[in-house]
This record gives sequence, structure tokens and C-alpha cells, in this order.
Amino acid sequence: MAQILELIRADHDFIRSLLDELAGNPETRDVRCITLRRELPGHMYAEEATLYARLRDVAPEEIRQSTSEHSNIRDMLARFEAIPLRDEAWMPALAELRDLVEAHFAAEEEVLFSRAEHYLSRSELFELSEGFELEKQKAAQFAVM
Ligand SMILES: [Fe+2]
Repeated sequence: MAQILELIRADHDFIRSLLDELAGNPETRDVRCITLRRELPGHMYAEEATLYARLRDVAPEEIRQSTSEHSNIRDMLARFEAIPLRDEAWMPALAELRDLVEAHFAAEEEVLFSRAEHYLSRSELFELSEGFELEKQKAAQFAVM
């Protein structure tokens, strides 16, 4: 299995492509919404349970910041989900969600990844990836938000 930062980056790319597809392709919106509802909270939950938990002591400020971004994304996702697909507020809400998610992913890839590479050994990064996959499965099973 890849190390955790590669798994996180692959999730980010997948979620970015889902958001692109949601914005650009009206035909597949209902299905992509279901996928987004599973993937985005599951990804954040698994990150918090593994990478964030591991970095909290050594990079408390960065983890506080990232956790608060997760909570903003959860709030925005809940608001977005409550809007019917054909409502005129749907597209602006998607754009808002997308901005939050993209800014958060970019910050993680820039700041948090370098902290992780600084503080964690290669073997720790590989070990964390197993937990990350397990937590994602758990999250999907219990439909966490
Ligand atoms: Fe995140």
C-alpha cells in the first residue's frame, strides 16, 4: 500500500474531479451527489482519526486550523445537500462548497504534508495508511458526516 500522503492526495484528486463533474455535467448530478456525500465526510473523518491525531502534539496550530476548515466544509456540505438539484440556489452553493474544499486541499498539500514529512518517518507514513483505509471503511459503513 502507498504511504498515507499519497492516499490523501489521490482522494483529493478524486473529490476535485467529482466537484468538476458536478459543476459541468447536469446529467450525472444525482449519482455524483451520492458519491460526494460518502467520499468527502469519509475522507475528512479518516484524516482526523489518523494523520491529524498523529500530528496534533507536534503541529497543534496547523491541526487546529485544518480541523476548523473540516467543520466549515461539513456545515457547507449539509447546507448544499438540503438544496434540491433544480433549485436556483444549487449552483452557487456548489461553487461555495468547491471553493472551501479546494482551498482546504491546497493548504493541506502545501502545509500539512510538509509537516508530516518533517515529523514522521517513512515507515510511520506507511503504517498510517492502513489505519486511513480502515477508518474510511468505517466511515462509509456508519455514513458519518
Ligand atoms: Fe482535510
